[in-house]
Amino acid sequence: MTILVTGGAGFIGSNFVLDWLAQSDEPVVNLDKLTYAGNPENLVSLSKHPGYLFAHGDIQDATLVDRLLAEHRPRAVVNFAAESHVDRSISGPSAFIQTNVVGTFQLLESVRRYWGKLVDAERTTWRFLHVSTDEVYGSLAPTDDAFSETHRYAPNSPYSASKAASDHLVRAYHHTYGLPVLTTNCSNNYGPYHFPEKLIPLMIVNAQAGKPLPVYGDGQQVRDWLYVKDHCSAIRRVLYKGRMGEVYNIGGWNEKPNLEIVHTVCDLLDELKPRADGKSYRAQITYVADRPGHDRRYAIDARKIEQELGWKPSETFESGIRKTVQWYLENPAWVANVQNGSYREWVAQQYGHGNPVAPAA
Ligand code: NAD
Ligand code: DAU
Repeated sequence: MTILVTGGAGFIGSNFVLDWLAQSDEPVVNLDKLTYAGNPENLVSLSKHPGYLFAHGDIQDATLVDRLLAEHRPRAVVNFAAESHVDRSISGPSAFIQTNVVGTFQLLESVRRYWGKLVDAERTTWRFLHVSTDEVYGSLAPTDDAFSETHRYAPNSPYSASKAASDHLVRAYHHTYGLPVLTTNCSNNYGPYHFPEKLIPLMIVNAQAGKPLPVYGDGQQVRDWLYVKDHCSAIRRVLYKGRMGEVYNIGGWNEKPNLEIVHTVCDLLDELKPRADGKSYRAQITYVADRPGHDRRYAIDARKIEQELGWKPSETFESGIRKTVQWYLENPAWVANVQNGSYREWVAQQYGHGNPVAPAA
């Protein structure tokens, strides 16, 4: 048996592949386009692993995907491949439509061709697991109930709209063609190998470099944080036990305002790697212009996966964020290597013309 993972060189995908091969003998084929977010260095420890095969390519390349399916005959596809950064989707939505919408469609078409030719016994156990996000549900008011699996879709950014479109395609392929799909909608992840364009790694990296810590708007937007390895364990559980055609929301009941997250990162760095001048890293916090259309609050109701599949996260936020900050402190070479030319261009574009509105106290 083999599984085909797409986007396995990115943040969550590489954690998933590493955890999978640490716990299972089942081989993994990893199809990744290696965009700016895909980093083979995350998987360098697998370079001689007999159960790991890397295929460089695009999920939109039907010839390649058809060939990988025919050659490796996976019993499941786990689709992580996506453009994933909301701010990039605002400044350049095109790649999001191409990969997240057209790419998911092309992948589903290849999978449909392959699955349709399997013998009955294989068709019954075959799975396509689509990794999606809580952002498809839009924004919650402070007292609203958390997102359940039946919450209406109301995506607000080009990123979330493209993910919503991909979710609908996956659903349609199940209803129309009987394709055995599973969809997971997870909240914000954090942990090792997180690209430092996203809030938590950006704060860790900027703090140490003596740079401003840019907080959008008033910093009171709420996100629901889950340690990446808990997301990976939830995906494994859904793949093994999830009911075909079902959607599972994944989260750890851990809502926090952004400013509290930034304070926590600063406090951990104050403890683990104090500033030379003895001041707190909190002094580097800078309020900048808000993200256009910024969703105010996300929160996941995780009761379905907990009660139906018996999944629970292993990390608390306190244990997970400490591990994360320590990982970045212990891996300066990884951080230096991802901060290449294209990373510097993005930071200059996103924050270079930023307009700090008030320094932190
Ligand atoms: P990421 O941006 O770190 O990684 C995406 C990976 O996909 C990269 O390796 C990239 O090279 C690859 N890729 C992009 N376009 C491709 C294409 N056309 N063909 C093949 N590979 C391609 O993303 P991530 O944070 O690891 O997210 C992975 C998945 O999980 C995404 O679908 C995202 O929507 C979803 N998700 C992310 C979070 C989060 O907090 N990061 C939370 C919930 C869901
Ligand atoms: O909710 C799940 C989603 O979480 C995933 O689907 C996305 O792929 C992932 O990128 C993430 O989206 P967010 O927009 O929530 O994550 P990001 O780290 O970009 O931002 C988290 C919050 O922090 C958000 O409210 C915006 C804010 N922020 C972000 C950056 C990069 C800042 O205040 N300053 C910043 O510099």
